[in-house]
Amino acid sequence: MKVLVTGGAGYIGSHTILELLRAGHEVFACDNYCNSSPEALRRVRRLANADFGEADVDVRDASRLGKVMTEFSPDAVIHFAGLKAVAASEKVPLEYYDNNVLGTLRLLEAMDSTHCQRIVFSSSATVYGEPKYLPYDEAHPLNPANTYGRTKLVAEQVIADWCAATAGASAALLRYFNPVGAHSSGEIGEDPNGTPDNLMPFVAQVAVGRRPHLNVFGNDYDTRDGTGERDYIHVVDLARAHVAAIELISESTGCEAVNIGTGTAFSVMDMVRGFEAASSRPIPVQFVERRDGDLASYYADASKARELLGWRAELGLKEICGSTWNWQSRNPNGYA
Ligand code: NAD
Ligand code: UD1
Repeated sequence: MKVLVTGGAGYIGSHTILELLRAGHEVFACDNYCNSSPEALRRVRRLANADFGEADVDVRDASRLGKVMTEFSPDAVIHFAGLKAVAASEKVPLEYYDNNVLGTLRLLEAMDSTHCQRIVFSSSATVYGEPKYLPYDEAHPLNPANTYGRTKLVAEQVIADWCAATAGASAALLRYFNPVGAHSSGEIGEDPNGTPDNLMPFVAQVAVGRRPHLNVFGNDYDTRDGTGERDYIHVVDLARAHVAAIELISESTGCEAVNIGTGTAFSVMDMVRGFEAASSRPIPVQFVERRDGDLASYYADASKARELLGWRAELGLKEICGSTWNWQSRNPNGYA
């Protein structure tokens, strides 16, 4: 299939393009590079030993997006482009609604005008909010606790309404749990701007000496060791879930939300110890206050992904920590 990938130069987009090419799909990447580097796509071409089109396009720019859509004429779109920092979303909510909601709207309009009716959307487990029960399944109530999560929920609803109103349309709303890890080559990985908000990139930067220690946000949660627990999903497994979703939407109509996680929760200290083992370096930690808005524990019921996509996570903590260390130690300053 011909697949247009918005936000293709980003962390998950770059890994997904590699898996799409390996599965024989034709790809076109568009990105405005607001949180990524074109270098990631150069490396994807090298790893895949294959070429693909690329354009510097903001998805909200109807005329440039329309031109790309008309020329490439995709069968399907994977929509990664968006902003993802929770704390920033509280400070500049309009920027988040503009990018994540309006961006999705503009993309669907461009799809309509080029008769493209299939979309895979990057959603997040954050749409569930405070757990009423665990594991979260897709029927769990949706009540995101922050602006970022609300932009994802609104975008999901826009896509579902578009799908219901468009004969033949098909959409997969993939709700990612915590994407971590890097490609096994160490050539592509997560390269956050400034101080990382998320656990694994922070731990990796401590290991290479860019930061003195990790602040562990709370050790008094009602969890096995008192630190927060999450369902960490290897980015290569996540990328493969997109390939499976592309196959699903090519054969079906309608809109499906699907959790993409492992079904297992690891604590902050599990991740720290896993990373120490992978890197043979100590990760000094300091226990500090809980971070505002953090939940104690959550993880996925991943059975729908197995049934609908025929996909399940195959990579575990060892591969997550080993690949993150390989990427970070080979590229201590990311793509810079
Ligand atoms: P990322 O920031 O690395 O990738 C997003 C890409 O989109 C970047 O390359 C950025 O430059 C581009 N972009 C942003 N706004 C754009 C616009 N208006 N037009 C064109 N390009 C634009 O983030 P990621 O981790 O790869 O996340 C990809 C998607 O998955 C995002 O939508 C994010 O909200 C979602 N998601 C991520 C996580 C996570 O933890 N990484 C978890 C759940 C959901
Ligand atoms: C965060 C977002 C979530 C988003 C996800 C993307 C919040 C409240 N939630 O989830 O919406 O979808 O990123 O992956 O920001 N931790 C530390 N020290 C650190 C960083 C994190 O102890 O320096 C702990 C956190 O308290 C948490 C765990 O590590 O228990 C994971 O944190 P993080 O990687 O930021 O992800 P989430 O908070 O789960």
